[in-house]
Amino acid sequence: MPSISTLNSSQFLLKTFFFFFSISIFSLVNARSIKSTHHHSIELDESLTYLWPLPAQFTSGNDTLTVDPNLTLDFTGNSGSGGGSVVVEEAFERYKKIIFKHGSKLAKSGEYFDVNRVTVIVHSDNDELQLGADESYSLLVTKSNERSIIGGVSIEANSVYGALRGLETLSQLCKFDYGVKTVQIHKAPWFIQDKPRFAYRGLLLDTSRHYLPIEIIKQIIESMSYAKLNVLHWHIIDEESFPLEVPSYPNLWKGAYTKWERYTVEDAIEIVDFAKMRGINVMAEVDVPGHAESWGAGYPDLWPSPSCKEPLDVSKNYTFDVISGILADMRKIFPFELFHLGGDEVNTTCWTTTPHVKQW
Ligand SMILES: *[C@@H]1O[C@H](CO)[C@@H](O)[C@H](O)[C@H]1NC(C)=O
Ligand SMILES: *[C@@H]1O[C@H](CO)[C@@H](O)[C@H](O)[C@H]1NC(C)=O
Ligand SMILES: *[C@@H]1O[C@H](CO)[C@@H](O)[C@H](O)[C@H]1NC(C)=O
Ligand SMILES: *[C@@H]1O[C@H](CO)[C@@H](O)[C@H](O)[C@H]1NC(C)=O
Repeated sequence: MPSISTLNSSQFLLKTFFFFFSISIFSLVNARSIKSTHHHSIELDESLTYLWPLPAQFTSGNDTLTVDPNLTLDFTGNSGSGGGSVVVEEAFERYKKIIFKHGSKLAKSGEYFDVNRVTVIVHSDNDELQLGADESYSLLVTKSNERSIIGGVSIEANSVYGALRGLETLSQLCKFDYGVKTVQIHKAPWFIQDKPRFAYRGLLLDTSRHYLPIEIIKQIIESMSYAKLNVLHWHIIDEESFPLEVPSYPNLWKGAYTKWERYTVEDAIEIVDFAKMRGINVMAEVDVPGHAESWGAGYPDLWPSPSCKEPLDVSKNYTFDVISGILADMRKIFPFELFHLGGDEVNTTCWTTTPHVKQW
């Protein structure tokens, strides 16, 4: 990816590499552990733990618990208002759909499920999402009975984002049994204490070389939450196209591939909000002064000359006014503390061959 240059980005690149590397290893291990027992069926090797990424610490047992399709959430926040948290409540509904994606049988009279309630306790009511937000959680899954008051599922976290990671782990523990048509949790009781190994766990998306519709970006963000990633590095703009609306310089998105391949300010805000509900920051990138040819489609003065279009004409104050306008407008959309300015692959030939730039 030619748009990578700062220290943060090279770390990012390294992590992305290890991320995909780990995926391949994981698939390998997984493929190996599913051993064929009969001609027609495969079974999971129960000696392995099918959680990914693997929690920092965990213990498990030998119980199999059934999970009530009418699972309810019991949320306790720290606000004292008892109002609950939209982040946790919406996440709970999403995970319920994932856990019960197959039709499960509801309890008939006399039947009962081992797990019918998820208790979530969040100690802080600070919903601000930034790098280093506390994503740790503990997850306890036990059979409830008369003797045990801590039965069922409980998740305890310092922030709502830790609670989200705990719900993700819970969803991975739940398996649909096609025989009895019930969702089960194997190897209970589970006691999991988890926290991320890396504060920055990112995925880069390039919507300049290849425009992606909002719905696709949302699916990608959703899938990032399954892997507990927390930063979407949105490489929105590059030399090929400028799809983002910038109110201060409304002609910039004339550099989009077509007028339909654009993101309005509202679209971008929707992406940021959607990501935040999943504990994912959006780090926007504007690559300057190279990789910016598309800017000149709306404002040709930004090019050194009509025949030499890249990098941006640094001799004009106007260029810096446009950069400031873009950054000021984007700051309103992207609250994340990190912002990426590219800075890579600056081919200075146009600067040295265009007389007024050379003179400057
Ligand atoms: C689970 O069962 C296995 C095999 O029967 C046994 O070796 C192991 O000690 C059991 N673990 C627990 C926590 O009961
Ligand atoms: C599901 O749970 C709700 C709230 O606890 C309860 O009112 C309802 O009767 C339950 N439905 C079934 C089918 O068990
Ligand atoms: C460009 O900006 C600099 C710094 O603000 C200022 O000194 C200079 O006069 C400006 N040049 C023009 C041509 O406006
Ligand atoms: C740099 O830009 C010049 C002028 O556009 C071009 O001829 C040259 O091939 C470019 N060099 C590289 C390494 O891309």
